Amino acid sequence: MNEITKKLHNLPDNIKNFYINLYSRRSVREFSTKPINNETLDRLMMTLQRAQSATNAQPWYFYIIKDKLRPSLNTVFRKEGFKKAPVIIAACAKPEDSWIRKDDDTNFSWVDLSIAITEMISAATSEGIGSCWIASFEMDKAKEIIGIPDNLQLVTLVALGYPQQPLKLEEKKRKPVSEIITIL
Ligand SMILES: Cc1cc2nc3c(=O)[nH]c(=O)nc-3n(C[C@H](O)[C@H](O)[C@H](O)COP(=O)(O)O)c2cc1C
Repeated sequence: MNEITKKLHNLPDNIKNFYINLYSRRSVREFSTKPINNETLDRLMMTLQRAQSATNAQPWYFYIIKDKLRPSLNTVFRKEGFKKAPVIIAACAKPEDSWIRKDDDTNFSWVDLSIAITEMISAATSEGIGSCWIASFEMDKAKEIIGIPDNLQLVTLVALGYPQQPLKLEEKKRKPVSEIITIL
């Protein structure tokens, strides 16, 4: 039994399964040809819609790109595997709608957007769907192809699709807890 399964061992099934789902996420860059059906996609969109945000401002806008724009959008990727993902979500922050912290003028739209995407990715993981945040792509070209207005910031493209190798609980190469967490 490895470290993770040891820690989850005695938990009730519902809690254990939650962690197994969460920890089964990995960045997927090789997708199978299996499409994501509309009902499943609908649940993922509902997850985006329900996400938390500062003052409930919901400073975001999402484009779901399936078929029509794909041949042109595929030209913005720097990795071949993303071209096969059946769905790409272009996640945009709308800074003008965001809560701004007065103390230091921080606009929270990118934080809020990241939370929505992360929650959606967790839901996708529990559906067996693989995902990858894509920050490195040809930005100007992507904005033009999708038709993103100037008041939106394209933060990330997210590739979604069933992975060639199924998601499973696995070890991660990560900094140790002792290095990143201080208990005061
Ligand atoms: C903000 C952000 C941007 C990322 N951009 C890319 C990217 O452009 N291309 C890519 O292949 N992976 C990208 N990734 C995936 C990371 O490389 C990956 O999360 C990290 O190596 C940890 O691996 P894991 O997701 O499998 O746990 C990105 C992840 C995040 C959170």
